[in-house]
Formats: sequence, C-alpha cells, structure tokens
Amino acid sequence: MTQLDRGCKITWLGHAAFRVESPKGKVILIDPWLGNPKAPAGALDALTRVDALLPTHAHGDHLGDTIEIARRFQPEIPCVYELHLYLSGKGLEKTLPMNKGGAQTVAGGIQVTMVSADHSAGYQDDAIAPKRALYGGEPCGFVVELENGFRLYHAGDTNVFGDMKLIGELYKPEVALLPIGGLFTMGPREAAMAARFVGAPKVIPMHYGTFPPLAGTPAELAKELSGSGIEVIALTPGETLQ
Ligand code: NI
Ligand code: MN
Repeated sequence: MTQLDRGCKITWLGHAAFRVESPKGKVILIDPWLGNPKAPAGALDALTRVDALLPTHAHGDHLGDTIEIARRFQPEIPCVYELHLYLSGKGLEKTLPMNKGGAQTVAGGIQVTMVSADHSAGYQDDAIAPKRALYGGEPCGFVVELENGFRLYHAGDTNVFGDMKLIGELYKPEVALLPIGGLFTMGPREAAMAARFVGAPKVIPMHYGTFPPLAGTPAELAKELSGSGIEVIALTPGETLQ
C-alpha cells in the first residue's frame, strides 16, 4: 500500500464520502453520505468528532447525513451561499457561506477554497415544496489545505473542464479525489484528462461502483494514465491512506 507520509489520514467511506484527519487531529468530512451502499457498516455511528463538514452540492448522495451529523457534532460547514440558506433554514447554526474562488479558515487552521465543478445541484425537499426541483446553488469542488500546508482537491461531481488546469496551477494539490463512475459524472477517460490537468501526483478515484450504472473502474483510469507518472490509489471503502 502506498504511503502518503504527510501527517494526515485520508479515509474513503464509499461514493464521494471522505474523512480527513489533519496533523493536529481535526476531523473533516466531505460529502458525508454514510449510508451509501458501499460505506463501511456503522460508519455514521462510528463518528466521535467532526470539526468541519464540506458538502460539495445539494444532491442527496453528497449532502447525505449532513443534517444529522451537524446536530450531533456542530461542525463548521463551509458551503455555497444557496446551500447555506437551505441548511440554516433547517436550523444548522454553523454554516459558513462562500462561493467559487473564495477561501476561509475552518477548524482553527484548515484553509478551504471553493472551486468550480461542471455539474448541476437541484434538489427536492417535500417539506418546502412537494415534487418540485429546488435551486441548490452552484455545485463545487474544494481544495483543502491542512495545518502543515498539505493540499488535497475533492472535485465533487463533475465532468472534466479545461479550468482544472487553473486549479492545478493555483493550488498545486498533492492528492486529487476524482469521480470516475460515469453517467452522472465523468468516466475514466475524462477523469484521466482531468488528472493530467490538475497535475496532482496521486489520484484517488471515487463515485464509482456504488450502483451498477456507475461502471467506471480504477483499472480503466490507471490504464488511461499509464506513463503519465500519476499514481492511481484505489482505496477500498473504509481504507485509509496515510
Ligand atoms: Ni451530483
Ligand atoms: Mn453524485
């Protein structure tokens, strides 16, 4: 198993859900749908602290258990403005609105920068408007910089887009978390181009295998990236890169 050796722990919880533990022991959850079909059993109950929670967009497979987790642990929740409106309307008090290109510090020293994603973000909430698609604001990705300067990029749900080059140039992430499943996001062919644009030396594939239609595989991504010098690290759900 590849070692990261950067003082942090990155655990894949299936689908787009990740737990990141910083060098100072802060726990960051990204897209915490912990009841996803590939999540480790009891992943939601196993949480003991959450300092920051980062939802990339309002789709249910990303917002996931955000409201329940927020009520249990009161994490700071940086999110796009319209998602802040929705979540604060649900009674969450520590949402921190922002938008693309903006950055803010959470959990006492973790820098979160919001970046673009090429996707959609409508959602439904029958308590607000039955059977209507509601506007969740723009979908996004996040660049997360830990206390020691380590940077990781979670792309959210997205297709490849040329401005991923800017994300690479501006933030120089060491690890990129990229969707590869296809159908609702890019598949391996597009994700390989995304990986080249971003330029991170390590890529962790996500958003595949959750359901049969999300058919892209890490092997296909690795084949597309052969000779690039970019390492594809296929975690199994519950596995930690550290
Ligand atoms: Ni989505
Ligand atoms: Mn999704």
